[in-house]
Parts: sequence; structure tokens; C-alpha cells
Amino acid sequence: MNIGIIGAGHIGSTAAKLFVDAGHKVAIANSRGPETLDKLVEELGDNATASTIEDAIAFGDVIFISIPFGRIQELPVNGFDGKIVIDSNNYYPDRDGNFPELDSGETTSSELLERHLGGARIVKAFNTIWFEHLRTQGNKDLALENRRAIFIAGDDTEAKGVVAKLIEEIGFAAVDTGFLGEGGRSQQPGTPVYNQELTARAAAAVVGRQL
Ligand SMILES: NC(=O)c1ccc[n+]([C@@H]2O[C@H](COP(=O)([O-])OP(=O)(O)OC[C@H]3O[C@@H](n4cnc5c(N)ncnc54)[C@H](OP(=O)(O)O)[C@@H]3O)[C@@H](O)[C@H]2O)c1
Repeated sequence: MNIGIIGAGHIGSTAAKLFVDAGHKVAIANSRGPETLDKLVEELGDNATASTIEDAIAFGDVIFISIPFGRIQELPVNGFDGKIVIDSNNYYPDRDGNFPELDSGETTSSELLERHLGGARIVKAFNTIWFEHLRTQGNKDLALENRRAIFIAGDDTEAKGVVAKLIEEIGFAAVDTGFLGEGGRSQQPGTPVYNQELTARAAAAVVGRQL
């Protein structure tokens, strides 16, 4: 699969390495331009290229977005129609500035991203796991129920299936929290699942869902 990655920091670069190691191709972009990513793509190997944001969007069957939430308005609005987009972002007001509609609970960060990216099939995932755990805790030798959980939320069942498969290919197990709005809300910072080292079996019990 071709995966476009926007954001080449802690989470974006860690996910890129895991996806490449699982046999996928990645095009990775940051805000400063592909020429600043030479060292990273050299480390990632032949299946990775440094890219502009627009080229990463065009390249990806799946687009993985991992940037500070406060900067999502800088992302292009075109090119996402029909694409599966993984939203790994979190809203931290101290870093991102205040968004009154999030502070009031009126909506969620994933729904604001969805509003910005016209036609994208958003799956909120990878936002609850610290990048060091993402780098080290995947284990394909374990049965799914005993693997570390990565939570997914979204309105598009097929898109969630694609993301769940990617999660399994890198040694974790997907636990579905439901639709993008309320499911996504249950994965946000401060919730009982955020940054918790849960097996999929334990995680499913916490969120009251089936594996
Ligand atoms: N750190 C974690 O363990 C962790 C875990 C789960 C979720 N998250 C969430 O994932 C997101 C990324 O976190 P991180 O820790 O990986 O951040 P980070 O290390 O600070 O990296 C952020 C990346 O986003 C890029 N970026 C910023 N604005 C951009 C824009 N407008 N267009 C394209 N790229 C842009 C930056 O590029 P430049 O350097 O070129 O500006 C950088 O590559 C955040 O929302 C965070 O809350 C983080």
C-alpha cells in the first residue's frame, strides 16, 4: 500500500518506519519541505521518499496526519476526497491555542479535521499511544487479544477495516470505539484509555466494545 505521511516528527517518523518495515511504501512530508527530510528517508530506506505535502496526499491510498492540532488549518483542503485519512492528532490548548468549540465540548478535534479536509474518510487512530511505545510495543507473535491496543474511531466501516489491518501488520490490535464523534471523543487526552498500556482484551472491556 502507498501511505502518505504528513508530519515527520515523533509519531510520523515512527509510523513511517513501522509501515516501511511491514512492506509498504511511504511518502513523508513536513512543513519545511522535502529537502529537510534527507536524513530521515535515508534511514527509512528505499521504500520511503521525502515529499511535499501535496505529493504525499496524491501518493497515498492512506494519508497519515500527525502534526500539532493547532496547525491543521494550514493543510490543503484539496486532494483528500475519498481518501482514507488517519488522524493521530490531539488537541492540547497550551500548545495549539484555544478552540472554543472544543473547550465547550460542542465538537471534537477529529470532526474539525474532517470539516477542513473535504471528502476525506477520517479514522482517528494512533493518538492514544506514546511514540516510544509505538516504536517498541508492537509484537506480531502475540494473538490479537494479547497485543497492545490501538484505538480506532470513524464513520466509514471500510476505512476502519483498512486501518485495522495496517495496525495488525505492525504488531498491534485495533479496538473500535465507534463513530468519529463520540468514539473519537472517548479516545481524547484525559480519557481512561489515553496513554494506557492496555492489551486489546483489556481495552475492549474499558470502552465496552467487542474485539
Ligand atoms: N509525541 C507522541 O508520543 C504523540 C502520541 C500520539 C499523538 N500525538 C499527536 O500527534 C501529533 C504530532 O505529534 P509529534 O509528537 O509527532 O509532533 P512533533 O514531533 O512536534 O512533529 C510535528 C511534525 O509536524 C510537522 N508539521 C507541523 N505543521 C505542519 C504543517 N502545517 N504541514 C505539514 N507538517 C507540519 C512538523 O514539521 P516541521 O518540523 O517541518 O515544522 C513536524 O514534522 C500531535 O497532534 C500530537 O498531539 C503525539
